[in-house]
Amino acid sequence: MTKHTHSVCKYCYCVDGNISESQPSYGTRLFERLNTLSRQSFSSLQLEIQSVGCMWACKHGCVIAISSPEKPTYLITDLPPDETAAPLLDFMQQYINHDTGEFPYKKLHDLFPSATLVQIPTVLL
Ligand code: FES
Repeated sequence: MTKHTHSVCKYCYCVDGNISESQPSYGTRLFERLNTLSRQSFSSLQLEIQSVGCMWACKHGCVIAISSPEKPTYLITDLPPDETAAPLLDFMQQYINHDTGEFPYKKLHDLFPSATLVQIPTVLL
């Protein structure tokens, strides 16, 4: 079984600056919510959710990446931390089930209308 990875930047705050450094970052909140919700629908053999360092899109938090060795990588930014976990896991399920992992831009845009979406082609052909 091919493993799929969902990476979440743990350092992302939000550009509005409404969070103090003593609170969990927005990225940490999103990571924890994804972990909690994913236990209901994914096995650890098919999906790894990892908390990672800065992905260089700091002014566009929250920032996540979805990847698998033989599928395109999706980098998604400008995600709100609390209401985004469920649609991200819905997208993750479709990504896992899809043979090539390729999605039309419109479909992703409908799921994450305020986000910036980047598709990076697979490096394995
Ligand atoms: S702090 Fe999250 S991308 Fe830089």
